[in-house]
Amino acid sequence: MKTTKEIRQDFIDFFIEKGHTEVKASSVIPYDDPTLLFTNAGMNQFKDVFLGTGKRDYSRAVNSQKVIRAGGKHNDLDEVGKDSYHHSFFEMLGNWSFGDYYKKEAIEWAWELLTDRWELPKNRLYASVYRTDDEAMELWKSVTDIAHERILRFDEKDNFWQMGETGPCGPCTEIHFDRGEDFCNKKHVPGHVCSVNGDCERIIEVWNLVFIQYDRSEDGKLTELPNKHVDTGMGFERISMVLQGVDSNYHIDLFKQIIDEIEKVTGVKYLKGAEGTPHRVIADHIRSLVFSIADGGLPSNEGRGYVLRRILRRASRYGLKLGMENPFLYMLVEKLCEIMGEMYPEIIKFRKHVENVIKSEEKSFLRTLSKGVALFNEISDSMKEKNISIVPGEDVFRLYDTFGFPKDLTAQMAEESGYTIDENGFNVEMEKQKELSRKGSKFKSEKILDWIEVTGLTTTKFDGYINLSGQSKIVKYAVDGKYLKIVPEVSYFYAESGGQVSDLGFIEIDDVQFEVKNIQKDGEYFVISIEMPESIPLIDIDTMIKQNIDKKFRDDCRIHHSATHLLHASIRKVIGDHVAQAGSYVDSKSLRFDYSHFEKLSEEQIKKIETIVNDEIRSNFEIITLETSIEEAKKMEATALFGEKYGDFVRVVSMGKFSTELCGGTHAKRTGDIGYFKITAENAIASGVRRIEAVCGSGAVELSREHQNLTSYFKESLVCKEADIIDRYEKLVMDKKNLEKEIVALKEKISIMDSLALLEKVEIIKEIKTIRSIVSTDDAKSLKTMAESLRSKLDSGIILLGAAIDGKASLVCAVTDDLKGKYKAGIIVGAAAKIVDGGGGGAPHLATAGGKNCENLEKAINSLLEYI
Ligand code: SER
Repeated sequence: MKTTKEIRQDFIDFFIEKGHTEVKASSVIPYDDPTLLFTNAGMNQFKDVFLGTGKRDYSRAVNSQKVIRAGGKHNDLDEVGKDSYHHSFFEMLGNWSFGDYYKKEAIEWAWELLTDRWELPKNRLYASVYRTDDEAMELWKSVTDIAHERILRFDEKDNFWQMGETGPCGPCTEIHFDRGEDFCNKKHVPGHVCSVNGDCERIIEVWNLVFIQYDRSEDGKLTELPNKHVDTGMGFERISMVLQGVDSNYHIDLFKQIIDEIEKVTGVKYLKGAEGTPHRVIADHIRSLVFSIADGGLPSNEGRGYVLRRILRRASRYGLKLGMENPFLYMLVEKLCEIMGEMYPEIIKFRKHVENVIKSEEKSFLRTLSKGVALFNEISDSMKEKNISIVPGEDVFRLYDTFGFPKDLTAQMAEESGYTIDENGFNVEMEKQKELSRKGSKFKSEKILDWIEVTGLTTTKFDGYINLSGQSKIVKYAVDGKYLKIVPEVSYFYAESGGQVSDLGFIEIDDVQFEVKNIQKDGEYFVISIEMPESIPLIDIDTMIKQNIDKKFRDDCRIHHSATHLLHASIRKVIGDHVAQAGSYVDSKSLRFDYSHFEKLSEEQIKKIETIVNDEIRSNFEIITLETSIEEAKKMEATALFGEKYGDFVRVVSMGKFSTELCGGTHAKRTGDIGYFKITAENAIASGVRRIEAVCGSGAVELSREHQNLTSYFKESLVCKEADIIDRYEKLVMDKKNLEKEIVALKEKISIMDSLALLEKVEIIKEIKTIRSIVSTDDAKSLKTMAESLRSKLDSGIILLGAAIDGKASLVCAVTDDLKGKYKAGIIVGAAAKIVDGGGGGAPHLATAGGKNCENLEKAINSLLEYI
């Protein structure tokens, strides 16, 4: 039997022999394609070639692509794990022609690989072609020896492929394999006949050959592409199942190893059939999680991050069915790296990070899981009472909103109890919430201004990287409450963007000077705001606006911005390339840098990062900026923001070989201008996102002055040299502790002495020795010590003491052993406590109580008389 590793290699070798170039799989997170959540086919990375906007050095390619289909056009997460063939993650083997060979070779080679190399029986294979594709039909007949009656025609649903709502697409021909009657899972369905595309597990599609010839636009129109291409995709797990002769994708050697590990970690044996669902779900989902996180994905509440969160929570919930109440999914990562890391080394490289992300997500979900399950049970009980079987949308939403239960998770729990959920109701609630937050945000910002057009241009040109003053005409202006807003044709002011704050400065119109309060970008415009002057200047087509930027402020912003780039590069150097920038803030006094990472940095790491940045500052590199094409920037390996969409032309900022980043901000001339860099804080701002704060240049000088002041203060108040501050301080702390201990011991001694004095006050009542007294002490413990010591000194008797401590009444009663059968301390003190509006109790020989009312303390003590 061939192993999965051999099968994958066979495929790649076969097409290399046919002149194909092996291409590395692309990331499962398609950063540069906003139309896709995840890479859903091998062809995604070649989309530009199909559309004619990109080129490659080769015209034939082969690869094994990691693919995620978890919602959207191609898959339903709910099905995964319940049957033998649904997956959220799978590998797709593919061969491509970019305007090179077409239908003939694609069909001929597919047949050769399946029937000649892999020797699949021809009488178990079928071919399907698109309804009108006579060419493909004829080719199947002429270039292969498939029996003609085994070639069938189907329409769009089955034989027209497209990657999404828009993009490259075309008719396809598919190859199906007949596994034999035993595999039909629809035998019980009346009238079911096994057939190609017949909706049972007997005849399954193994390979899809797409003939890409159109581009579909948003309105659904198909435009003929300049060249014709071939895009094929073969489900790797499926073909492995066929070639290994096993009954489920989940039983091929690759999955067997994962399932073995799940058995080991959970201690629960895997069983085929329905009982094995949890193992299969976990085996599938851990692959999606590991591959997507290694490629920079993170669970979150939005978009693809939310899909990852749903996948993890679904796996975690199935883990609970195997008794796993603590995080465990992360324990499977190492084994998966062993099994698949040779083919996809990125998962080995980022293993630690992946484990951290998964573990922390598991932890946070498990914290609310049991509460959510309890709420679900309540909902389910009330449904039983009301005799309804659809979980109301409001409840589904409540579980989602309060306990983080994705809708499909609630649906799954509902299904297990024989219920369904009200999806529409859930969507209505969701919309309501969105509407509320939309209203909230609209209220704050969006205001429509009546702009007065002057030159009527549509953009502002920014010319302030080097020039800090200049003049230009005015595009338009508007009155906005207390402000006058002016859009210049050319701006020398930097407007807030890329984390850097706006410049400060002045403008002049007709020799009148105004202080600039704010500059914002509005689309392609720069909007300068000044306080409303008493009379609005006369602005016409020739009016010039002079601009003067505050140089000191700008220079301070520049160095903080450049330092942010050095910081970014050194964080990646110290903790790894997985670190992605999650945000930044740069002003004239400090900087903040947010990045994805799951652990607190150690002191050691912080020092290392700081040292590297300062070393690079002293290297005094020239800071070079370059406007270039995005392709050129990629070649320079410039760091870009994950998920950020860049135009065709980008600005690259580089500092020696140490840092190269895409950035539109303003920077220092040389790294040496930064002077000195000091980290001031490191903490978490959200799950998986950490923040470093730092200062440099004169900000760092300021900080060191503050530290100096602090040191001087300590030197003076501790009366010592700087080097002795720590010793002196530690000694003070130690002295304080010792003194406190002494005070406690002294208080105890005083209590005992006080109690000796009380012995003189013994009063005999009905032949019983009694001591009643209000004593002065400030803690209840001494009061108790006194009573105990009196008890040990009296041969026989009853003691009732009271004290006012912190404005409250405290009481204690002690009874010697000979009397405690008849006179119980707990009862005596309880009765006394009632008088001071309180309560208490304890053992028959010693009991304490307290009350609010100190004024009645005397009465309470005297109650002993009555009692006896
Ligand atoms: N793009 C096609 C598919 O995903 C063939 O690779 O099925």
